[in-house]
Amino acid sequence: MTEKTWNVSLTEIQKLQALDRQAHLHSFTDPQAMVQAPPFLMQKAAGSQVMGQGIQLLDAMAGLGNVNIGYGRAEMAEVAYGVMRDLSYYHTFAGITNPWAARLTELLMEIVPSQFNKVFYANSGSEAVETAIKMARLYWKREGREDKHLIISRDFAYHGSTIASSALNGLRVMHEDFGTETSEDALHVEAPFWYRFGGEMEFEEFGRYAAKCLEEKIIEVGADNIAAFIGEPVQATLGCIIPPKSYWPEIERICRDHDILLIADEVVTGLGRTGEWFGQETFNFSADIMTLAKGLSSGYQAISATLFNDRVASVIEGEQGVLQHGFTTSAHPVACAVAAQNIKILQKEKLIERIRDDIGPYFKTKLEELLDIPIIGEVRTCGLMAGIELCQDKETRDQYPLEYYLCQHIAQAALETGVIVRPAGNVIVTCPPFIFTHEDVDALVRRLRRAIEFVHDRLKAEGLA
Ligand SMILES: Cc1ncc(COP(=O)(O)O)c(C=O)c1O
Repeated sequence: MTEKTWNVSLTEIQKLQALDRQAHLHSFTDPQAMVQAPPFLMQKAAGSQVMGQGIQLLDAMAGLGNVNIGYGRAEMAEVAYGVMRDLSYYHTFAGITNPWAARLTELLMEIVPSQFNKVFYANSGSEAVETAIKMARLYWKREGREDKHLIISRDFAYHGSTIASSALNGLRVMHEDFGTETSEDALHVEAPFWYRFGGEMEFEEFGRYAAKCLEEKIIEVGADNIAAFIGEPVQATLGCIIPPKSYWPEIERICRDHDILLIADEVVTGLGRTGEWFGQETFNFSADIMTLAKGLSSGYQAISATLFNDRVASVIEGEQGVLQHGFTTSAHPVACAVAAQNIKILQKEKLIERIRDDIGPYFKTKLEELLDIPIIGEVRTCGLMAGIELCQDKETRDQYPLEYYLCQHIAQAALETGVIVRPAGNVIVTCPPFIFTHEDVDALVRRLRRAIEFVHDRLKAEGLA
């Protein structure tokens, strides 16, 4: 953004807000709230800072957990500009490709877990998940086992906003308006959410218990009816739920024993968020299908990918006939070039190693300081993502009623102190850019503490804490 667009007058800001409010239906926004208050006009961003309406904020959410290399990198813009001039668009239907798709594919094959040798491109995480579901079904159909069509997901899962991907989401409120809760194709099992549901169990013991819930569901429904199990290595969006180390290897064993495909939804965890390139490395398991999106281009372009191991790919490709699936902008040249440049930056600046060895451990240590606040029950971190769990009672781990909207109040108060975090029920989530410095972590913790203490003081004043 040029200085000209950044320095817009108050009148101009109000005009833009009015124009937007008139006709723009926003994602995951209460339209009635937009009647009360105008949309916030974000105008500029650089590094870990975002700016709008004269306010500068530290973005401890990296947008929506996707701007991993930070905002406003000139080399990303230059790559996009160059490709747009050479080949602004061409499709990849009917066996056509472009140099940038080919190069991104080569780069991906060097970094993804070794079982993945085939990739399909789309535009969003939802489309990547949708692709994974369709290909899992295609796989079983081609294997002559058409009855294997159900997909099992988990409570607190977030897999997207299209009909099929959202049917997998594990939060009732996301289904009620669209009838997806009655989807006969998606089933849910318990999440490995120890803090809420672990009771007296040890952490690792609970991981095995949560995995066992999947096995029980498979036995109940019948493996002959189930195509796949899908899970995010860390359930990021709905509370940064970090599973015990015992969980994923056991899930993999169960999927293998019952002949069910395993889909790792690495839309958030893929490309470094956990401090390894992929969540499967951090949690020691190997999926048959993997989805990638957010960190693939760090939000500089809309691009996602679904990857397949040889078992799945060989069956999908093994028969003649057109693959009846694809998007107009699959493997878009500009998006592919930008994604490749993003990966090169991650490699050149060793940003993932830095999460593992330096900023990740610092982020953990500093955030854990918040545990001295009486309403903070748990601080869980993995790489550069964290869930800060509120509680009414540290001993019993009792929750405040969700109707108190405490984390919304904290996130709002945090904006006043100058930092962006995200509420997820009774959890505050932070997912900063990989370029976060020690000073950024200090500022995040300092500002978040003030916001939490502000809300805690109000609870005390009302006799609720
Ligand atoms: C794990 C996971 N899968 C899928 C999606 C959907 O991605 P998108 O919003 O790009 O469609 C998200 C989005 O937050 C996600 O976190």
